[in-house]
Amino acid sequence: MFSTRFTQHSLVTEAHKTIRCYQATPKITVDATMGNGHDTDFLACHSETVYAFDIQKAALNSTEQRLQKTNRLHKVHLIQASHELMQQYLPGSEKVDVFMFNLGYLPHSDEAIITQTTSTLLALESAINYLSPTGIISIMTYPGHNGGKTEMDAVINWLHLQSNECAITHIHSQQETATSPHLFTLVKQ
Ligand SMILES: C[S@@+](CC[C@H](N)C(=O)[O-])C[C@H]1O[C@@H](n2cnc3c(N)ncnc32)[C@H](O)[C@@H]1O
Repeated sequence: MFSTRFTQHSLVTEAHKTIRCYQATPKITVDATMGNGHDTDFLACHSETVYAFDIQKAALNSTEQRLQKTNRLHKVHLIQASHELMQQYLPGSEKVDVFMFNLGYLPHSDEAIITQTTSTLLALESAINYLSPTGIISIMTYPGHNGGKTEMDAVINWLHLQSNECAITHIHSQQETATSPHLFTLVKQ
């Protein structure tokens, strides 16, 4: 199933609200793109353990500082590795309740270091294998930057391939322009 809806909230807020609605008490969660740690901190606030990935040391430093301030660092594994390698770091015995992907580049940093279509799709494949039967994956895509539209189209194609076994929602901002981000959620059905 592939459905569409619109939101008046920012898509970051909408991702958090949707995850909270769907998974009230997640245990294990993954932030596949840690960045400055806003999503990691959100996940740490609502789950027991977070595995957070980023390829850039600057992202780990920024997230560590944020988690120290919020006193949630003890709940988070900060992992400097590409997300398609997540299976090397996740506990093999447990399923994951929430995956967050917020693609693109680290804000206020080198805009050339961005998520790449091939590794993004490999990471999504891993995520769906690790997802608990009641889990949710959220994916924020940014068509406005170099390579972002190609990556978003590849993600949409991948989501269509899952739509026989999963419920996919494409969430648009009400103020959407050609360069606005798009949010997708996937749950098993
Ligand atoms: C838009 S930011 C994420 C924002 C973040 N979730 C937050 O709440 O601040 C995208 C991040 O993805 C990271 N990234 C790029 N390629 C990656 C990869 N292969 N694996 C993991 N992270 C990657 C970038 O370094 C960047 O920090």
